[in-house]
Amino acid sequence: MLFSKKGILLPLIACLLALVQCESNPYREGERLYKMNCANCHLDDGAGLGALIPPLAGADYLAAHRERLPCILKYGLKDTIVVNGTVYAEAMPGVQTLSAIQIANILNYINTNWGNNLPPYRLDEVRALLEDCE
Ligand code: HEC
Repeated sequence: MLFSKKGILLPLIACLLALVQCESNPYREGERLYKMNCANCHLDDGAGLGALIPPLAGADYLAAHRERLPCILKYGLKDTIVVNGTVYAEAMPGVQTLSAIQIANILNYINTNWGNNLPPYRLDEVRALLEDCE
């Protein structure tokens, strides 16, 4: 026989395990990029830092400014904003090297973690929003 029984079974089991892991954390790439580019300010748990860095966990800003977020990630924000009743006025640098797919992944990781339960971004939506950044 060309393939032994074991030779097919083991990769099959590995695939199934990978699927289960994907299911429990669909935005793993978003998590990796978040930890690399965002967590040093917003922290691993999205809590932010006092009056300097706004939170992402439970932040009312996310739903209220959904259409603005892709541009904020890419080009930064230098504004005076209110998040959960607190005023923030420090500047956030953007990460211009992020692609639309990476931005969608990061935002979807944020939207579905730390108690956040917001609808995910579609890739074509993020692409369109990025074309209209000011
Ligand atoms: C150098 C620190 C810093 C880094 C790095 C950073 N941010 Fe921010 N972020 C801020 C600050 C400060 C503000 C408020 C900006 C303002 O007031 O204009 C902010 C605002 C935001 C907001 C809107 C307000 C809110 O809390 O909902 C979002 C969303 C956000 N950041 C997400 C991200 C993501 C995602 C990344 C990584 C790609 C990131 N930030 C990287 C400091 C940072």
